Amino acid sequence: MSFRNYKDKIEEGDTAILYLSNNLYAIDVRPEMKNKKGEIVENVYQTPFGALKVRTLIGANYGSRVELSKGWGHVIQPTPELWSLTLPHRTQIIYTPDISMILLQLDLVPGSIVIEAGTGSGSLTHALIRRVRPHGHVHTFDFHEHRSKVAQEEFQEHGIGDFVTVSR
Ligand SMILES: C[S@@+](CC[C@H](N)C(=O)[O-])C[C@H]1O[C@@H](n2cnc3c(N)ncnc32)[C@H](O)[C@@H]1O
Repeated sequence: MSFRNYKDKIEEGDTAILYLSNNLYAIDVRPEMKNKKGEIVENVYQTPFGALKVRTLIGANYGSRVELSKGWGHVIQPTPELWSLTLPHRTQIIYTPDISMILLQLDLVPGSIVIEAGTGSGSLTHALIRRVRPHGHVHTFDFHEHRSKVAQEEFQEHGIGDFVTVSR
């Protein structure tokens, strides 16, 4: 839910950004995960500076330093800009410099209704949603069923599903 409102503390279910020596990683804050055999195991995120037990993030402050097994990093709240830099690519994506120009030239404001053709990886969609919410809406289309489904799941997981309708 961490895309919906700014907040102090990390909660289970958030997406948190790990900032580590000029690299950024998006972490799904869940204490446990399924392994390849489908078994429930401890969620341990591996980094170049060692392992992070994801459960230790729950209750930590956004912006705080977190210990890894061979170093440390900082954990920060996601924004559309940070998501564009860390999202799992299903397609080529639009990055912040172009997104800024798109939002400006379309004169989008809170309350605008937007139709987006080609959801792709949802990079632009996250920025559109932030711009038009809380009273506006984004209608995004993609004929690729899997991409569309995954993007819809991400919008829900990020707590911004109310502001977007995903169609295929
Ligand atoms: C380059 S990706 C879009 C990336 C997206 N803007 C982002 O920032 O993540 C283009 C997407 O458009 C979709 N697409 C292409 N032609 C389409 C069409 N005629 N109708 C619907 N979707 C289409 C493709 O399936 C692909 O997922």
